[in-house]
Amino acid sequence: MSVTTRAAVLRQGHGPFTIEELQVGPPRPDEVLVRMVAAGVCHTDLRPRELPAEEYAGPQVYGHEGAGVVEAVGADVASVAVGDHVVLSFTWCGTCPSCAAVRPSYCYNLRDYNMSGARMDGTTAFTDSDGQPVGSHFFGQSSFSEWSVVAANSVVKVDSGLDLTKLGPLGCGIQTGAGAVMNSLSVPKGASLVVTGAGALGLSAIMAADLVGATTIVAVDRHQSRLDLAAKYGASHTILSSGDPAALTEEILDVTAGGADFAFETTGHPGVVRAAYEGLTFVGTLGMAGVGNVDVSFGFRSMVSGRTIRGVLEGDSVPTEFIPHLAALNAQGAFPYDELITTFPLDQINEAEAASTAGDVIKPVLVF
Ligand SMILES: NC(=O)c1ccc[n+]([C@@H]2O[C@H](COP(=O)([O-])OP(=O)(O)OC[C@H]3O[C@@H](n4cnc5c(N)ncnc54)[C@H](O)[C@@H]3O)[C@@H](O)[C@H]2O)c1
Ligand SMILES: [Zn+2]
Ligand SMILES: [Zn+2]
Repeated sequence: MSVTTRAAVLRQGHGPFTIEELQVGPPRPDEVLVRMVAAGVCHTDLRPRELPAEEYAGPQVYGHEGAGVVEAVGADVASVAVGDHVVLSFTWCGTCPSCAAVRPSYCYNLRDYNMSGARMDGTTAFTDSDGQPVGSHFFGQSSFSEWSVVAANSVVKVDSGLDLTKLGPLGCGIQTGAGAVMNSLSVPKGASLVVTGAGALGLSAIMAADLVGATTIVAVDRHQSRLDLAAKYGASHTILSSGDPAALTEEILDVTAGGADFAFETTGHPGVVRAAYEGLTFVGTLGMAGVGNVDVSFGFRSMVSGRTIRGVLEGDSVPTEFIPHLAALNAQGAFPYDELITTFPLDQINEAEAASTAGDVIKPVLVF
């Protein structure tokens, strides 16, 4: 049996999201039907707009920070039951070497499973009023929809006493920022950390760095308002970036007294990446999460050192463990990421995007 839903559909890469009535098919044996309560908007939902318009392969329902209630489960699903409150995260194949090693965010098939806009057999869960397929299963979930059919391993059960309108962003942006510090880089007490970009990822990384006891926490951004938030949430130093990478390196070396132990990069800007790298000690580590559109280059002299550069996907999270952990920290008042949220009704998704792009809102959350 199919369900009628209202969803935000992106038909053209450079066009607006349009609110449409779609049909959602029933869940397959390894899927879950979720009634969405809220869905965060992450920068990755907006990246299709940066593609040349002719390369866009829509129509597609985006959304990968959903939170809601389970309404039906497929025959093989044992992890959740009807009525459970859930947060939705990324999906993975379950059979590759990374999945076997319980490192699902480095699944060899992560791109196909999360970004192809369909199930692995090419079918989609949504059809439009003309009976045409509309892309689903974005990050296993396509949560910019009142109802969605979701990959079972995207679904994380959470305490039903918690406020679902706050929980969706844990599914991507917040777990990536916090996980970069707590898991990927394992920043220890007393360490120094530079965070480039004080948006959703960067500010959650700063909160986590404060929580683990990093003593020098340097925030870099081009907006003073974001640096003010960084200072509120634990940054000991802030740098307003002028756009000159050499000057930024000098400022980082200055405030860290010769170099940082760690850096976490979220701007996707090549000059900032290079400055973050050159601002490390000779044995420091740079974690890269920001996704840019042009390549980065490094000088040979700076590369031949003891430094490490590593990529960070989803903060090395095992969502069923890390998301409830972060939700519990938040409930104790120790990790106030929910203060970064501004809510919008689903039909104001274009306004939510504009507010995020303008820098006025850190983490837009659509409420259904
Ligand atoms: N690796 C992952 O697993 C993962 C997960 C989620 C998001 N992302 C990516 O991470 C990036 C950050 O996501 P977000 O949600 O935090 O975005 P955001 O827009 O909330 O934050 C980015 C911040 O970087 C700042 N910035 C941009 N260019 C800058 C520059 N040249 N100098 C100084 N500051 C600059 C912006 O002012 C903003 O505060 C995006 O590229 C997103 O696609 C990656
Ligand atoms: Zn995301
Ligand atoms: Zn895998």
